[in-house]
Amino acid sequence: MADFQQRDPLSPAFWDERFARSFTPWDRGGVPLALRDFVAASAPLVTLIPGCGSAYELALLAEAGWDATAIDFSPQAVQAGKRAVGGHAERVVEADFFAWQPARPLQLIYERAFLCAMPRAMWPRVAARWAALLPAGALLAGYFFFDDAPKGPPFGIAREQLDALLQQDFECITDQPVGDSIPVFDGKERWMVWRRRA
Ligand SMILES: C[S@@+](CC[C@H](N)C(=O)[O-])C[C@H]1O[C@@H](n2cnc3c(N)ncnc32)[C@H](O)[C@@H]1O
Repeated sequence: MADFQQRDPLSPAFWDERFARSFTPWDRGGVPLALRDFVAASAPLVTLIPGCGSAYELALLAEAGWDATAIDFSPQAVQAGKRAVGGHAERVVEADFFAWQPARPLQLIYERAFLCAMPRAMWPRVAARWAALLPAGALLAGYFFFDDAPKGPPFGIAREQLDALLQQDFECITDQPVGDSIPVFDGKERWMVWRRRA
C-alpha cells in the first residue's frame, strides 16, 4: 500500500493505479446474493451502476433483460468492467457520476462500494446527485458500509449519518444483514433499499 503514487480517491488516477496493479480488495469477483434475489423478484428496471469497477452486476442485469448502464471514471476500471461482462461491454461506459446524464429516466441506482469510495466531505454531493437522477418512486438499492475508522477508502458511515444524508429525499423500505460479504466489508455492510420521495 505504501508505494502507491496516487493518494486522492477523487482522482481517476487513484483508481487507475490500483486496477492496473490488481490491488482491488473491494472486488467481490461476482454478484452478491441480495442483488440476485432483488433482480429475481423485480420487473426489469432502467438501472445505473455508478462507480462500477469490474461491473459483474451489469452482466446479471443485462441477461435478465434489464436496461442497465455501468459507469466509471477510471479508464482502467472501465477496461476491467468491459472484460468481465463479455457480450455486454458496450454498456460499460467511461463517465463521471457527477456529469453523466441518463438517456431515459432511471428507475434504479445500484450502490456497492461507491459511497464508501468517497471521502466523507463528498457524501452530501453524492446524495444530492442520487436524488437528482431518480424520479419520485424510483429506487436506490444496494450495499451500505457502516464503520467509523477515520482513514479510507473505504470510508464507513454511521446509521444516523446515513439517515440524515438520505431521509429528506428517500424513505428506507428494506434494511437487511448481509451473509455473503467479502472480508473487507464482513459484519459491516447491510443490504438496503431506499425509495425516492415525491
Ligand atoms: C471501491 S471501487 C468499487 C467498484 C465496484 N462498485 C465494486 O463494487 O467492485 C470504487 C469505484 O468508483 C469509481 N469512481 C469513484 N469516483 C467516481 C466518479 N465520480 N464517477 C465515476 N466513477 C467513480 C472508481 O474509479 C472505482 O472504480
